Amino acid sequence: MKFSTIVATAVSAAIAVSGTPIEKREVGGLLLCTGANATGTCTYNVYELKTCHQLPAPFHHNTSTFAPDGEAFNCFPRIGDCGSICTSPTGCTFGAVDFNYKNKFDLGAIKWNTLISSFDCELKTPPTTQ
Ligand SMILES: *[C@@H]1O[C@H](CO)[C@@H](O)[C@H](O)[C@H]1NC(C)=O
Ligand SMILES: *[C@@H]1O[C@H](CO)[C@@H](O)[C@H](O)[C@H]1NC(C)=O
Repeated sequence: MKFSTIVATAVSAAIAVSGTPIEKREVGGLLLCTGANATGTCTYNVYELKTCHQLPAPFHHNTSTFAPDGEAFNCFPRIGDCGSICTSPTGCTFGAVDFNYKNKFDLGAIKWNTLISSFDCELKTPPTTQ
């Protein structure tokens, strides 16, 4: 008789989202403008992380400036609206955008100014705290 041994190792890399407020600085600040180089209609907000934020008019499909603040977080512009189903393995984003992203003041450089419908942000992998 053979016993199939199933070792269910639950490696839960649980990022502890505890109730502990670690508010050193406000993370999630993001400038959006319809025009490149912070022109046109702009809005600045500190956005909750790990939450989809739907772009309202006039920013929906109309955002050329997508400029996160300098803290250690990334934002991911998405083609689909919040709640839409993304079947692309790339997550329907062109990738992470942070403070240093070269096209943050001109998404039109990669033709994303007319594609962006929503976005979400998350902390970068935390560096070893000193
Ligand atoms: C944005 O500003 C830079 C630097 O002044 C300029 O080179 C670039 O052409 C501008 N982009 C647009 C789309 O206006
Ligand atoms: C894009 O934003 C500008 C500035 O708010 C607005 O005038 C224009 O109508 C918008 N375009 C679209 C397609 O929403």
